[in-house]
Amino acid sequence: MRVVASARPWSRVTCDVLAVPVRPPDPLAGLEALDEALGGWLREAVQLDRFEGKRDSVLQLFTHGRLSPPRVLLVGTGPEQDTSQAARRAAAVAARHAQAVGARRLGLWPGSLPATPEVAEALVEGALLGAYRFTRYKAPEGPGLESVEVAAVPGAAPAVRRAQLLAEATCFARDLVNGPPNEVHPVFLAQTARRLARGLGLRVAVFGPQQLRRMGAGALLAVGAGSRQPPQMIVLEYRPPRARRTYALVGKGVTFDAGGLDIKTHEGMEAMKADMAGAAVVLACLRALPHLGVPHRVVGVVGAVENLLGEAAFKPGDVVRALDGQTIEITNTDAEGRVVLADCLAYARRYRPHGVVDVATLTGAAVVALGHHAAAVLGNDPQLVASLVRAGARAGERLWELPLYEEFVEAMRGEVADWKNSGGRYGGAQKGAAFLSRFVGPHPWAHLDIAGVAFLDKQEGQAPHLPKGATGFGVRTLLRWLAEV
Ligand code: BES
Ligand code: MN
Ligand code: ZN
Repeated sequence: MRVVASARPWSRVTCDVLAVPVRPPDPLAGLEALDEALGGWLREAVQLDRFEGKRDSVLQLFTHGRLSPPRVLLVGTGPEQDTSQAARRAAAVAARHAQAVGARRLGLWPGSLPATPEVAEALVEGALLGAYRFTRYKAPEGPGLESVEVAAVPGAAPAVRRAQLLAEATCFARDLVNGPPNEVHPVFLAQTARRLARGLGLRVAVFGPQQLRRMGAGALLAVGAGSRQPPQMIVLEYRPPRARRTYALVGKGVTFDAGGLDIKTHEGMEAMKADMAGAAVVLACLRALPHLGVPHRVVGVVGAVENLLGEAAFKPGDVVRALDGQTIEITNTDAEGRVVLADCLAYARRYRPHGVVDVATLTGAAVVALGHHAAAVLGNDPQLVASLVRAGARAGERLWELPLYEEFVEAMRGEVADWKNSGGRYGGAQKGAAFLSRFVGPHPWAHLDIAGVAFLDKQEGQAPHLPKGATGFGVRTLLRWLAEV
């Protein structure tokens, strides 16, 4: 996709659709010159259609040669106060509309929104996120967008470039998550990491079953034992010259979660190809970091594994030993994510990171608590959690903190081992996080439970910039956080 920012006025944009976000109650505020260029048609159409600028509503006008673009599209923002979020959403509506009418070139003019680089950035993000389609196995309906131009915003080129990088990284994560689990298995994720490393000059290490055994990664191995697909621990490292600090990103990469012997129901299993969304977020971040010029060393650690129920599968009652020597009693084979992450977090300690963030579709309880409208965040360091919440707000991704009380840690103590992997039904997201907290060591750490927001199969949670299927939630938050921390 070609993406450009220009300072030229809306009258000089060459595109097939010129989209303009407008706000209620007066959708024509600030559009006087455009209305004049169109001989008053805009005002007339707004009145005829009683167009008020409600959120996601559109009004399309053909310009019949009065303007270089053949169509002008007003997109309502509704009363949204956050102008970036309003822009992101309106641009996504515009991109989807443009694709639906077969347009290839989208023009975006901030219209009633402030003509700032932040708004330009959000417009581009929204357009690229909204235009996303997963086309690997099915021909798309109609052509896709080929170019996006943001007009009339001076000095927006760097912001727009960053928006494109972040949106493309998000779509990369979406493709991995939408990919079917017979293709996107642990070895596929490892190959993807190797390919990224080769193209971008990242360091990569992949540990298969043999090395995992030698290292003592008994937790990851236990989860993978029920599958023919060998588990893989993937370590991908971005190391800029004169790196300031080291951060670790840790991703849950369960490429399919059948629940293990504690097997899931049909409904529970339906979307479980998306149980590697945390891993996809981590790989997508590492892919974008070199282009963003982040000044920190960032290590991505992914635990890639299938949770199936073959004859060698781990069982309720098993005790396994994690990489750091701590023992885990398996009380539920469907609480596998935390077992995988135990080894990955323990591995990340070797880098003595200034901060560790893990990303995981960890618990149904996080979905019960927050629905599909926010990820849960928990951690051992209030500053780290606060900085992630702020980065999320800027990215338009909501993070909501849940408490990590000592009692939740107590609930995870094992009968015959140091810890057990499930600790009763209430406060499930907190108990999952409490378990993880035992494996992070002395470093500042935060956990993002993205179970409710990573994959939207039901209508709930979907939005113009978050279509059905994988969302890539977390990529833009983490990249902004790393770029600004
Ligand atoms: N991958 C699931 C969590 C999940 C549920 C993600 C719904 C996305 C949507 C996880 O491995 C799991 O099964 N968790 C169990 C834990 C329980 C057994 C302690 C859960 O939440 O029910
Ligand atoms: Mn599970
Ligand atoms: Zn899972």
